[in-house]
Amino acid sequence: MRKVIMLGIATLLGAADLSSVIESPDATAILLKDALPAPKMYTMPEGCITDNSAAIARGKYIFHNLNGKETKEPAPEGLVKILPNGKEKQYGNCVACHNIEGAKGYGNIGPDLTNYKPLYMDNGVRNAQFVYQKIADPRVDNAQTHMTVNLANGLFTEREVCDLASYVASKK
Ligand code: HEC
Repeated sequence: MRKVIMLGIATLLGAADLSSVIESPDATAILLKDALPAPKMYTMPEGCITDNSAAIARGKYIFHNLNGKETKEPAPEGLVKILPNGKEKQYGNCVACHNIEGAKGYGNIGPDLTNYKPLYMDNGVRNAQFVYQKIADPRVDNAQTHMTVNLANGLFTEREVCDLASYVASKK
């Protein structure tokens, strides 16, 4: 009896032409809008990485943003939370993938950036230009990277990339 009912339903469904009621929107425009530009090599601007405490504070804020309590703090001087168009500026989320000093709830898709200065900067394993380029567009030295692109797609400004690089490379 059950089998007969199932067969009946299958026949009904098979017979109905549902093509007119199934939505199939064309997503090409959205995909094109979100497509990344080609990998871009950058030269770090003059005075980019600095030990200026305001720049480091901005970099720190951006790095830890969207991370628990840290996000609720007011944005440090020189950073906006609300864009001129009224929308909230989306900062960073570096902690989604990287551990660093004081990180809460960090992810481990990217390398641990704790002690970055003594481990990588002071001995020349990494330099300022490398850190700047990695944050601006990580695809240049690693085509298969899982890191987000930040400058080439306009997610951040040049100054914000410098603030982030200053924070990562700073003594903590
Ligand atoms: C989706 C995960 C992800 C996010 C988000 C992310 N990264 Fe990364 N990051 C990676 C991965 C994976 C690597 C290692 C592969 C590579 O070199 O591209 C990396 C590498 C790096 C390096 C180079 C480390 C070294 O010396 O080799 C730095 C510096 C860095 N990220 C900074 C940042 C900053 C700052 C942000 C926030 C703007 C950020 N990352 C956001 C995944 C991420």
